[in-house]
Amino acid sequence: MVGTTHHNTGVEGVEGGIGVTALMVAAARAIETHRHDTLARDVYAEHFVRAAPASAGWPVRMQQVPDGDANPLWGRFARYFGLRTRVLDDFLLRSVHTGSARQVVLLGAGLDARAFRLDWPPGCVIFEIDREGVLEFKHEVLDGLSATPKAARVPIPIDLRADWVGALADAGFDTTAPSVWLAEGLLFYLPTVAETNLIDMVDRLSTEGSALAFEVKLDKDLLEYRDSPLYTSTTQQIGIDLLNLFDKEPRPDSAGDLASKGWSTSVHTPFDFTRQHGRGPLPEQNDALAGNRWVFANKPRP
Ligand SMILES: C[S@@+](CC[C@H](N)C(=O)[O-])C[C@H]1O[C@@H](n2cnc3c(N)ncnc32)[C@H](O)[C@@H]1O
Repeated sequence: MVGTTHHNTGVEGVEGGIGVTALMVAAARAIETHRHDTLARDVYAEHFVRAAPASAGWPVRMQQVPDGDANPLWGRFARYFGLRTRVLDDFLLRSVHTGSARQVVLLGAGLDARAFRLDWPPGCVIFEIDREGVLEFKHEVLDGLSATPKAARVPIPIDLRADWVGALADAGFDTTAPSVWLAEGLLFYLPTVAETNLIDMVDRLSTEGSALAFEVKLDKDLLEYRDSPLYTSTTQQIGIDLLNLFDKEPRPDSAGDLASKGWSTSVHTPFDFTRQHGRGPLPEQNDALAGNRWVFANKPRP
């Protein structure tokens, strides 16, 4: 399963560059779906993996992984993505079912099939922003499955370093109504200025009663864990060199920025949720997940 190492080259689709990471997460979700103690089910995930030449040979069931849970990539890392999927499913559903927000924006949506998987309340619209090649591939696969979304779904093919705010407005986003935002597995690929602008824009486009969840890496030195089993096995087994794809600039304090703009924020390690759910990754030595944080933010009503 050794492949070509992918670089952050700006390649458009799922076959290279950052886009291929969407396939890695899809494979993890496929494996999670078929676990006996599954945290999240995504029946579309394995179809994405099978459809793309880059990933057609990757496992979509734990039984296809010879060393099973001992495999750092398809065991611990895949479980991490399964847990992340579950926690962010819960965040989105909680936000729309307990609040009045009916607009959901998935930033760097990749092969996220939540518009098709989750039970959305009536009147919900899901905006999915990712680059054109990724969304084209997604639509080919979903069309082939005759998949039907469970909410209005509006794909927006655009690079988040371009004028995505204009594209979102053109697509019908209402800046006078509350919204729910998600940046899952995205921010560490963006240049610092793009992350800062993105958070600033989300704040500007969000009325009171809006919510945002995102994932960051706090590592001062990303390379500190360069020899961790997660990174080395991802490179060796599927040719994705994550450290090469991550942006290398010092990361902004986006949770702190939101707090200074009046949002209430809570910052969690993934391990907090492992303990809550009774399954998922736990801390280990030389851990690429050590700096990962999941941030939940709400813009309070006055
Ligand atoms: C690791 S995947 C995560 C996808 C999805 N959020 C999930 O968790 O399944 C990262 C996604 O971010 C997208 N992405 C990265 N940089 C981007 C950019 N500058 N503009 C738009 N999308 C971007 C990639 O195309 C890819 O689909």
